[in-house]
Parts: sequence; C-alpha cells; structure tokens
Amino acid sequence: MRVAMIGTGYVGLVSGACFADFGHHVTCVDKDAGKIASLARGEVPIYEPGLADLVKTNLREGRLEFATELAPAVRAADAVFIAVGTPSRRGDGHADLSFVYAAAREIAAALDGFTLVITKSTVPVGTGDEVERIIRQARPDADVAVVANPEFLREGAAIRDFKHPDRIVVGSDDARARERMAELYRPLYLNAPPLLHTDRRTAELIKYAANAFLAMKITFINEIADLCEKAGADVQEVARGIGLDNRIGTKFLHAGPGFGGSCFPKDNLALIKTGQDHAAPLRLVETVTAVNDQRKRAMARKVAAALGGNIRGKRIAVLGLTFKPNTDDMREAPSIALITALHDLGASVRAYDPAGMEQARAVVPGEVTYCDSAYACAEGADALVIVTEWEQFRALDLARLKQIMAQPVVVDLRNVYRPDDMARHGFTYVSVGRPPAD
Ligand SMILES: NC(=O)c1ccc[n+]([C@@H]2O[C@H](COP(=O)([O-])OP(=O)(O)OC[C@H]3O[C@@H](n4cnc5c(N)ncnc54)[C@H](O)[C@@H]3O)[C@@H](O)[C@H]2O)c1
Repeated sequence: MRVAMIGTGYVGLVSGACFADFGHHVTCVDKDAGKIASLARGEVPIYEPGLADLVKTNLREGRLEFATELAPAVRAADAVFIAVGTPSRRGDGHADLSFVYAAAREIAAALDGFTLVITKSTVPVGTGDEVERIIRQARPDADVAVVANPEFLREGAAIRDFKHPDRIVVGSDDARARERMAELYRPLYLNAPPLLHTDRRTAELIKYAANAFLAMKITFINEIADLCEKAGADVQEVARGIGLDNRIGTKFLHAGPGFGGSCFPKDNLALIKTGQDHAAPLRLVETVTAVNDQRKRAMARKVAAALGGNIRGKRIAVLGLTFKPNTDDMREAPSIALITALHDLGASVRAYDPAGMEQARAVVPGEVTYCDSAYACAEGADALVIVTEWEQFRALDLARLKQIMAQPVVVDLRNVYRPDDMARHGFTYVSVGRPPAD
C-alpha cells in the first residue's frame, strides 16, 4: 500500500519508518526542509533507540522516502496520515489545530482516487468532522474517507510500541475505510491485529481519556508519596501493594517530580478546555494539572530542605534533563521548572544529560553549566539531584561521588537508590515518599 505521512516529527517519523519496515511504501513529508534533507541522507534528527537503523534500512531498500512537497505523495497515496503537531494554543490552552487544518487543505487539493485521510495527531473530539468539512468544501468531487487513528506510542520505546501496540483505535463508520485500515495494519500481526473500531468522535476522545487517566495515576501516587513522607510509610511498597490488584495495575505508579513531556501537559489542558466547552467540566483532570504544575517547583524546595533550607550560593548538580530517559525531548520536562526554581532560590546549577543537552540549552532559562559526564557535573556540588532515571545514573560509583562532591547530599527524585545503601556510603539521602534510612 502507498502511504503519505504528513509531518515527520516523533510520531510521523516513527510511524512512517515502521509502516515501511512492514513492507508498505511510505513518503514522509515535512515543511522543514532542513529536517527532510538530513533524513534523506539517513541522518535522524531525534534521539530514539533503534530509529536511525530503521530509517537507514528502509531508505536503502527503497520503501521509505522523504519529501518537502506534499502533493505528489498525496496524489499517489492510498492512505494519507496527518501527524503534524497540535501544541497548546497560546493564551487559552486549547489544542492549536492550525497545522492540522492547513495540512487538510493542502491534502484536499492533491487527492486522486479513493483515499483515506487519517488523523494520527492527537486532536480534540470533533476535529475529524472539521477536517472532512474542509476537504469536502475544497474538493466536492473527491472520493475520501476521514478516519481517526490516534497514536499511543511512548518516546523512548516508540518503535516497540508502534510495532506491538496494546490496541489500534480506528474511528470511522465507513466500511471501505475500516477494511483499508485493517489492511494497513495487517502486516504487524501474524494473527489478527488488535483493532478497536469505533466512530470517529469516540476514537478522538479515547486518546485524551487515556492520557488523562495515566497522568492521574502519576499524580495520585505523587500525592500518596507526600503523605508517606509525613506519615512514615514507603510509597514504593504502597504502589506495589495497590498495583498488584489487577483492577489497578502496577504501571504509572512511580512517584517522582511530576509528569512532563510533549503530550500529557498539553493534552490534559486541551481535554479540560473541551470539557468546559461542552459544559461537562472534568474536575479531576483540572486538579491533576494544577497539582502537577505546583509539584515541579516544589522539588526545588525539597532540594533546599535537604541542605538545611538555604541554598543561596550553593552549587547544585542536576542529573538528567529530558522528561524521561531514552529521548532528547525537553518539552515540558520537570527539569525546566526545577532549575528555574533553584535559580530563584539563589543556587548555581550544573547539569548533565546523556542526550538532551543540546535541546536543553535552547529551553532552560538562566545560567547553567553543562558538563560532559555525571561525575564532572557532581564535582564540587553541595547537592546532586537525580531528575531523570537514565540507566547510566543507576549504578554511579558512590565512593567516587562522595569524594568529588563538596557535601555528600543526594536528592533522588526517581527513587533510583536504596536509602540504606546511601546511608552506608555516608550520604545524606532524600528520595520521594520513602522513609530515610534508620
Ligand atoms: N511525541 C509523542 O510521543 C506523541 C505520542 C502520541 C501522539 N502524539 C501526537 O502526535 C502529533 C505529532 O506529535 P510529534 O511529537 O510528532 O510532533 P513534532 O512537533 O515532533 O512534529 C510535527 C512535525 O509536523 C511538521 N508539520 C507541521 N505542519 C506541516 C504541514 N502542513 N506539512 C508538513 N509538515 C508539517 C513540523 O514541521 C514537524 O516536523 C501531536 O498531535 C502529538 O500530540 C505525540
């Protein structure tokens, strides 16, 4: 099948490369000529494990192409995916759909023969109706079905998630569209792909409801962690104790500095706005967003408390900047609010991240000394703060760390280390929702 992928960001590039890997012919289109030029040379502009190899192989084998011009790719396509960004709209927090609608207009002009136009971008309920209206108005003659097919992949594990999804949501009432979508995803499975057919509006809402639910789980365990700290309980055991209940599940119950990333914050906000517009306010989601926003900054106060309350003039080492490991994505990373708050409290900040430093330089305000290793970062620091749980931070040489730091204070916002181990190595150790070592 011939596929055109409009928008070659995280989602478009991963989806396009994976579809190509399963034998479809895919043209990934993007307005960003620099990005397309490097991709055409086999250079992948984002850090995502396995993606560079996948792109190179499929380029070489002629199943994957890159283009800046949308029309030829759409004209030849059986299926056109819209995978452009839907950021928060400045001012009101609604999803900014201008990229989606602009893409729909361009696609409409180029349609030829029966074509699926599939929204993979995360879009508010009703967006598919508007995409269809735009296309039908521009091209009343076009034979087209507009489908919602939200994407659930996670950055850092995107290829695995795309190739082995828990479910593939297909929102369309059109029988031809359902059949073609099944054909598109068929190669992913030897047996039947886990397709969930719904109407289009339901599919759109499933994506937001899923993200809001996961964000709520994180925020729930974060508040329980705060209570554990006050009440003398261990949040990791609470999480295990509730997670082993199948009705709850163990995933997304890791206490930490609050969620960030390219999706949860903006999608929660957009869902809140959708709820308000429909006079069906989502109070739980509103609270999750408010609690999470406050939490990121509160982490700086946790660092200050670990150093006796005052960090003016102190040197703080931050390990991990990206919003999660195995990505270079800095969008809404908790490290941004944390570092800003550390600056506000008068501290100087050093930082190290295995993949995100270039992106971080562009978005983290204030003066930060970027270091080239975890140990260079810890040198002379009054406290070391673990913000992102990259694997290489999980077994640091604690004796060396203690020797090079000005004060042996570690604030572990991801609960990577064991309180008793850290105490044995002579550290003052603060983590999230766990009692200090006896
Ligand atoms: N990043 C994730 O993990 C993830 C997961 C699931 C869903 N999503 C959703 O997928 C969508 C895309 O997210 P992303 O992170 O890949 O975004 P991104 O910002 O990384 O990429 C979007 C790309 O679209 C391009 N673009 C915009 N308008 C265009 C047009 N008219 N023609 C061609 N290219 C155009 C931009 O240049 C950019 O390269 C969003 O709606 C997002 O919410 C993202």
